[in-house]
Amino acid sequence: MLYSRIYNCLRPRHLTTMVHGLALGLTILTGLDAFAAEGDPTPAQIAETAAGIPDPAKMTPFAKQVPVIFVTRDPRKPETWNNLKQFWNRGKVDSVDPATGDKVVREAVYIKVPLGLNSAPPVPTENPMTQEKVLLGKKLYFDTVISSNNKVSCASCHNPALGYTDQLKTSTGIFDQKGGMNAPTVYNSGYHLLQFWNGRAPTLEDQAQGPPQNPLEMHDGKGHPWYQVVSRLRQNPEYVEAFAKVFGTPPTRDGVAKAIAAYERLVLTGNSIVDRAEMAMRERVEEEGEGKLETNAADFTKVLKAAFAAKDTEALGALGLEAGKDEGKVAQVAASIQRGKVLFSNKARCNSCHVGDNYSDSQFHNLGVGAKDGTWPEGADLGRFGAQETGHKDPALVGSYKTPGLRQLVSTAPYMHDGSEGTLEAVIALYNRGGNLNPHLSNKMRDEPAEREAAKNGQKAIIPRKLLLTMDEEADLVLFLKALQGEPAADIIAKP
Ligand code: HEC
Ligand code: HEC
Repeated sequence: MLYSRIYNCLRPRHLTTMVHGLALGLTILTGLDAFAAEGDPTPAQIAETAAGIPDPAKMTPFAKQVPVIFVTRDPRKPETWNNLKQFWNRGKVDSVDPATGDKVVREAVYIKVPLGLNSAPPVPTENPMTQEKVLLGKKLYFDTVISSNNKVSCASCHNPALGYTDQLKTSTGIFDQKGGMNAPTVYNSGYHLLQFWNGRAPTLEDQAQGPPQNPLEMHDGKGHPWYQVVSRLRQNPEYVEAFAKVFGTPPTRDGVAKAIAAYERLVLTGNSIVDRAEMAMRERVEEEGEGKLETNAADFTKVLKAAFAAKDTEALGALGLEAGKDEGKVAQVAASIQRGKVLFSNKARCNSCHVGDNYSDSQFHNLGVGAKDGTWPEGADLGRFGAQETGHKDPALVGSYKTPGLRQLVSTAPYMHDGSEGTLEAVIALYNRGGNLNPHLSNKMRDEPAEREAAKNGQKAIIPRKLLLTMDEEADLVLFLKALQGEPAADIIAKP
């Protein structure tokens, strides 16, 4: 996809406005000012809309700020977490006002981090979470005002009703233009070490600054994209007031990025059937006082029965089960999920990349998605390699993409960075054949013993490692992936 840097180069009219002082200098020498349109903002104007120094007098006073506090389940004292009734809970917190040193009791929001997510998403120190900021971020996330033609919002491509994706092969942006990438889910994106399929943005704050200036997503290509977004927000008294309270500044690019990122850190999903079975297993082992910390089919039976009793149509529906009808299938389904779970970490080795609470190592691997006839096509996207800084490029990462999490697969098809795999069955078939052969195939996808054998015979070959899964095993793995489907976000997060 084109992002601003390339895009600037393609559009000389913007050279003067976007490359700041350097380009202005050039203007005089080369006559580039012929390209500068009337009314384009000056570098100083752009800087002023990019960020501002807070005026504390405008901000909500410390004692009235409502911090948002993540609570994860601590197995040593689970009561605090257990006692939270829902995702978003009101409470109080003791605080010390940093300006005065006074002790104050403040209102607070306690977030019940979903079961299975054992840590909170990291929050940058310069962007602390408050209720006002998160709600501002949510408003911006759903607002088409960010796009030049007032038709596209973040939610257009990351729609809560569609698992925070668009369920398209590749996204459709402003003026119905097609991008080249599949929109990943925003769910649990706060846990990624880097953002985007190729990791080109270090944080959610950086990521959020991309789409509004992307000519295939939200920008019409006219004028300075961010200057325009901010100018539109400044014309709206509601935004002017909200930014003043949260940031002590008028609307700025810095504030937009921070507010949206703060909202996204609350787009969490967990409490899948697998999470519940793992908790049931822990309780069982604790009760028995012995045994391995490994689930068995009975753990899945227990939680599936509970899901039927609670008419949990979300979790059951993900597995193709109907509440009130399919209870007779519990034992069979439980056994299949358990077999799939074992395959995931053993024979199929999925956990060599899909690890941790979000089932992602946040690393980059070439599976051959995008390869053609054993080659990496000329001119094709280079994945992580393409995004690495010059001077830091790792040739082992040509055509590699970030390992996605696996907690929303039932609602986020099609799959992979280019949306090329339509179903989970197709994804498993890809892995079963060892990925798609190409010169940059990840070591983890290769049959290294067979390659060494070939080398002895003087052949230098890349040999994909076939998993040799049977059809039944493939079906078990698919069912396990469906059992990872997390609970959808609470209404306060997902409803505009
Ligand atoms: C036109 C569709 C479109 C719009 C509008 C859009 N996105 Fe995206 N988003 C995508 C696509 C496609 C990608 C993947 C691009 C890539 O990796 O190169 C993406 C990537 C992301 C990611 C990275 C997730 C990950 O797993 O790495 C986040 C977070 C995100 N978008 C949030 C937002 C926010 C916030 C907005 C609004 C400011 C937004 N998006 C607007 C299509 C869109
Ligand atoms: C070598 C690391 C690695 C291994 C092993 C691995 N994956 Fe992946 N997985 C990835 C990467 C990287 C992607 C994205 C690739 C791309 O888009 O080019 C991915 C994508 C996926 C997707 C698509 C998700 C989405 O949102 O688009 C699914 C589903 C998946 N893997 C499941 C599995 C299963 C099941 C296994 C075991 C059979 C497995 N993976 C083994 C790294 C791995």
